[in-house]
Amino acid sequence: MMFEKKQITSNPQHIAFIMDGNGRWAKRQGKPRTYGHYMGTYKIEDVVRWCSNIGVKYTTFYVFSTENWKRPPEEINFIFNLLVEKIEEFYERMNKENVRLRFIGRLEEVPENAMAKCFEYEEKTKNNEKIQAILALNYGGRSEIVDAVKKMLDQDNRHVDEQTFRNYLYAPDVPDPDLVIRTSGEMRISNFLLWEIAYSEFYFSNLLWPEFSEEELKRAVEIYQGRDRRFGGIK
Ligand code: IPE
Ligand code: IPE
Ligand code: MG
Repeated sequence: MMFEKKQITSNPQHIAFIMDGNGRWAKRQGKPRTYGHYMGTYKIEDVVRWCSNIGVKYTTFYVFSTENWKRPPEEINFIFNLLVEKIEEFYERMNKENVRLRFIGRLEEVPENAMAKCFEYEEKTKNNEKIQAILALNYGGRSEIVDAVKKMLDQDNRHVDEQTFRNYLYAPDVPDPDLVIRTSGEMRISNFLLWEIAYSEFYFSNLLWPEFSEEELKRAVEIYQGRDRRFGGIK
């Protein structure tokens, strides 16, 4: 890649995306909010491809949060129907590019046809190894921690430390995100990956998700590479 500043941190291995601004983008086009969600889904594919091209191994996308149930039922239905309708073609293209699809979140609470698709395509792509695309669906960082605690209690496991706790998270084998990118100019986490982002770097983009670009991704990565990650230590 091209560096204007000195590269002091190597390429990110895992980038997590808070895909925000679909509704505002649609409104600006004089269209209903749902049109933003429709266009936003295509952006996921592009971003996986762009990340794959620069050697990123894991991508996580915040698709639907545990708080998004507060939205009008029509919008919620639209989002889940979109998932059910689009996932097959998404899978066809991603599978050709050796992308492994995974899902994190309380899948047991999403509409049954959507949940079935998630399991189906997770299984079909489980041996793909170029890059992982992890979709966070009915995901909440606090729910993930609570679910982990419940699993530990169910197993009567009292020997808890940070390392063993991690094993109870939704995707324990996935390394923590190196970089979190949020679009739409909002500077908050909105309950995303709370445990995993302890030492992540952040990039807040003013672009709305449907207009996020390869150029903007490269800018974020370049800025990331110029950051000095100290993890609490000193040089
Ligand atoms: C992000 O876009 C997608 C979801 C949360 C499902 P929004 O729908 O939050 O769009 P804005 O933030 O209202 O513009
Ligand atoms: C975060 O966006 C959740 C997703 C991108 C799925 P929101 O639009 O729901 O977040 P808030 O309400 O602005 O914090
Ligand atoms: Mg939003």
